[in-house]
Amino acid sequence: MTKLKWGMIGGGEGSQIGPAHRLGSGLDSEFEFTAGALDHRPEEGREYGQRLGLASDRSYGSWQDMLAGEKGRDDRVDLVTVATPNSTHYEITKAFLKAGFNVLCEKPMTMTVEEGEDIVRTAKAAGKICAVNYGYTGYSLVRHMKAMIARGDIGKVRLVNTEFAHGHHADAADADNPRVRWRYDPAQAGVSAQFADCGIHAMHMASFVTGQEVEKLSADIVSCLPVRTLEDDAMVNFRMDGGTVGRLWTSSIAIGRQHGLGIQVFGETGGLRWSQEQPNQLYYMPLGERLQVIERGEANLSPEADRSTRVTIGHAEGMPLAFANIYKDLAEAINAQKENRDMDPAANLYPRAEDGLRSMAAVVAVAESGKQDGKWLDARPPMFR
Ligand SMILES: NC(=O)c1ccc[n+]([C@@H]2O[C@H](COP(=O)([O-])OP(=O)(O)OC[C@H]3O[C@@H](n4cnc5c(N)ncnc54)[C@H](O)[C@@H]3O)[C@@H](O)[C@H]2O)c1
Repeated sequence: MTKLKWGMIGGGEGSQIGPAHRLGSGLDSEFEFTAGALDHRPEEGREYGQRLGLASDRSYGSWQDMLAGEKGRDDRVDLVTVATPNSTHYEITKAFLKAGFNVLCEKPMTMTVEEGEDIVRTAKAAGKICAVNYGYTGYSLVRHMKAMIARGDIGKVRLVNTEFAHGHHADAADADNPRVRWRYDPAQAGVSAQFADCGIHAMHMASFVTGQEVEKLSADIVSCLPVRTLEDDAMVNFRMDGGTVGRLWTSSIAIGRQHGLGIQVFGETGGLRWSQEQPNQLYYMPLGERLQVIERGEANLSPEADRSTRVTIGHAEGMPLAFANIYKDLAEAINAQKENRDMDPAANLYPRAEDGLRSMAAVVAVAESGKQDGKWLDARPPMFR
């Protein structure tokens, strides 16, 4: 098997998300880490890239050098991951798409809805894949949940209740720490802090598992630490295009909560519950029967779940393996593109630029609704109205 070539921008030494991408992309041996511009400090980035095994001429000092260098090569990278801070995503993603590269961009994909629409158009015009890293949708049992809902195991979905609430920015004494402060500063973070950082994962997951899109929403946003301009807590009510009612809570001041992503879906004939901190169990309650615990890796799960699990039942699989499933889908998508064939439908689950755009429209609607005391607003990007 010829390996695909993978490049990364951002994810330098000590970064939060860089290691998860390197583990995820490398897990199935489908991608080979070939090029990178890993750090905003050119020398540190070049040096770290070489320590990770990149050839000296493909460990670049900046993303602009990487674009120029890779563009001219016959063996250019097949996929570029953008894992830099949020405000740089648009410029880098657009430049690589326009030059004919496939891109996996970290969330949030852009800072504005207009930029999001531009990325969707640019990817389409270039005929390239633009994925967004809602990596938690890569968990095997999240995929099984989606498959169960699609095949009608819980009937028509009435209600989805989702949350992403942690307590890691709760300490008022830490509010002025530069690593925390920028997140609540509109000049650097945009119109939203906690919803744009974490809430969009929860909202995207609601869409992913139900197969429905968010149409309108009403938000109550608050800065529990008064020194903050942007919200550190939000409660969002929403409605989906299949008639499902949505409830979402996100917070960064929920002391005692660790990661805090979870989802419950209630249909006419059953309910499902999954939590990111116990990702190897899915709770299924068929109406009028006993609670069932579905274990990752057990027999007779969906093809989507089977394809996205690797170690045997009873051994925990965690977040880098969920990211690996996004990479596995992308490898299949890129190979199908190269071989001019349809891709395996069980792999066709990676989040798209369209999802990144929908999230951005929801971010803007949450910020605006919050300002207007929870007024219900259209949450769809203009392009999809
Ligand atoms: N999908 C997820 O679950 C998830 C989780 C955490 C973070 N993220 C996203 O990943 C992105 C990075 O977050 P992080 O927490 O790793 O940040 P971080 O600050 O820990 O690391 C950012 C890295 O990018 C490098 N960098 C900055 N500007 C650069 C440039 N112009 N060119 C090359 N490298 C540059 C920095 O040197 C650093 O190594 C953010 O957009 C964040 O929202 C996503």
